[in-house]
Amino acid sequence: NDHDHHDGNDDHELRVSKIRDGTVIDHVRGGQALNVLAILGIDGTNGEEVSVGMNVPSNRFARKDIVKVEGRELSQDEVDVLSLIAPDATINIVRDYDVVEKHRVERPDVVEGVLSCPNAGCITTGDEPVTSRFTVLEDGVRCSYCETIVREEIASLIET
Ligand code: CTP
Ligand code: ZN
Repeated sequence: NDHDHHDGNDDHELRVSKIRDGTVIDHVRGGQALNVLAILGIDGTNGEEVSVGMNVPSNRFARKDIVKVEGRELSQDEVDVLSLIAPDATINIVRDYDVVEKHRVERPDVVEGVLSCPNAGCITTGDEPVTSRFTVLEDGVRCSYCETIVREEIASLIET
């Protein structure tokens, strides 16, 4: 159909192989695929089977990125952080080649314990452990303790 045609998903336009079991993160904003991999802690050194499409044609946006991870389903924390850099992403769980679950990411109101505050003077970055907490804004995140706002480079704040 027309939808498939424009999304590049029909047989003669498929750019990235189907996966057997795992997760397809689709409709990622063009240019964010590497940040998606960073959030998932994937750098290829652990033998992960991963396919990435960047700036491929999409019907929903002019261009999209797509990340396919074989043999892995994502945790809610991972999906929460993904939603910050890929607010329109679709998470597709694939089992035995079929999409068995599909949901849009939802932006949480707050994220706790997943991002570290870039402010060296923030109570969350001191010696005494205080769990980080950020309020999710329209266009970024705000530390609940020191009010520092981060709009770009959110992926670089991910706690390891
Ligand atoms: N996919 C995959 N491997 C599979 C099944 C699906 O890589 N075994 C990918 C498809 O290529 C597509 C995404 O997972 O990029 C979602 O698949 P599907 O729901 O079949 O496609 P659409 O209906 O086009 O999805 P949407 O409406 O969310 O765009
Ligand atoms: Zn802070």
